[in-house]
Amino acid sequence: MQRKIAVVGTGYVGLTTGACLATLGHQVVCADIDAAKVERLRAGEVDILEPGLADLVQRGLRTGRLRFVVGASAAVEPDTDVLFLCVPTPMGVDGSADLRAVVSVLGEVRDILPPGCAVATKSTVPVGTADRLAMMVGSPIVSNPEFLREGTAVDDFLHPDRIVVGSSDRSAARKVGELYQGLQAPTLILDAASAEMVKYAANCFLAVKLSYVNAIAQLCDRVGADVLAVTEGMGYDPRIGRSFLKPGPGWGGSCLPKDANALVHVAESVGLEFPLLRSAIEQNQRQLDEVLDRVRQACDGTLRGARIGLLGLAFKAGTNDLRDSPAIRIADALAAEGAEITAHDPAISGELPGIRLVDDPYEAVKGAVVVLVLTEWPEFRSLDWTRVAELMDGFTVLDTRNLLDGDLLSRAGLTWRGMGRPC
Ligand code: UDX
Repeated sequence: MQRKIAVVGTGYVGLTTGACLATLGHQVVCADIDAAKVERLRAGEVDILEPGLADLVQRGLRTGRLRFVVGASAAVEPDTDVLFLCVPTPMGVDGSADLRAVVSVLGEVRDILPPGCAVATKSTVPVGTADRLAMMVGSPIVSNPEFLREGTAVDDFLHPDRIVVGSSDRSAARKVGELYQGLQAPTLILDAASAEMVKYAANCFLAVKLSYVNAIAQLCDRVGADVLAVTEGMGYDPRIGRSFLKPGPGWGGSCLPKDANALVHVAESVGLEFPLLRSAIEQNQRQLDEVLDRVRQACDGTLRGARIGLLGLAFKAGTNDLRDSPAIRIADALAAEGAEITAHDPAISGELPGIRLVDDPYEAVKGAVVVLVLTEWPEFRSLDWTRVAELMDGFTVLDTRNLLDGDLLSRAGLTWRGMGRPC
């Protein structure tokens, strides 16, 4: 059934949700407070790097199924069936999720929501929020967590593993679940707290898995094992699975760090410690320290005045998102110890504090004592490594993503070091 939908917030979650729901045949109005952004979206211009999204937005505009307006209240119409909240819930100073944007939008629309309109939260919110917000607005609130990965958000939306909807009002939950009819995925209709918990539990499980594999990589380095062989051996076990087993410079992005801290906070608020998750967060810092130690070693102990070339700044390949990127944290830490940082990322241009950002990867490695690969952009594999060796002032390439062919680099006269891999 075609529904009338309002989506508030046009970040990668809101815009993907709006454009994909329009593609599924619904009538969608997307709202944002940034008038200039709304103007660009009306012209079919999408700022974020999300494969396929601009095409869907332009198609939605052409068919008239997708519109953009300024401000949440402009998106609500007398026959709106569902309002999606897709506004940021950043990490507050104490680690908890900051709900000010959610509360402000609800305050703005509560008096104009038509009777029977369901409000669905895509924003990750603390467990119990849906029920609390329902009391505030007097309308049913449905938790409908998203599991979209940046860089594959459209594909993840259109080919989900599962649809999760939860509310104390089951018919509102079903109404939201039915929006996804046509997608081949099991739909779980839950209570609100369980739906909210699924999102945290899933993201935090992934964070724990990554911290575990990063710790195993550190161990492999010290005992002379190869983490690639080890994770292959682990991944054949279907209880473990093959995905999310790649070591790196630490996990980052707009969700995992925020959600891990928020769940620790949720646990604390009910008198639980959750040391496992705390350790995963701590291990993420250790992974960063491990990278910094290796750079110091390669620079004979001191970073003062050392020129370091960085390849990659985004928190992962396929996105231009720098939020909580381990690459930025590493660059900042190196700069704080006096290193001179030059960086190249194929998706990022402009200015960044403390970093000389260049458009050419060869410019980034010129004169560098050490080169670090921090984002797994496939194009770094096909760099001319002989040219890189000629341009560098040193020999060491620290490949924190295990992206490169170590033998090829050795033949070019470079010393390649991966994470958890023999040199
Ligand atoms: C994540 C969840 O995967 C998604 O379901 C949720 O909706 C939002 O948060 P995203 O933040 O886009 O998605 O990134 P993801 O692909 O999960 O990667 C998270 C971090 O883990 C990145 O820093 C990435 O580089 C790192 N990572 C991932 C690894 O280091 N190794 C891996 O094998 C996988």
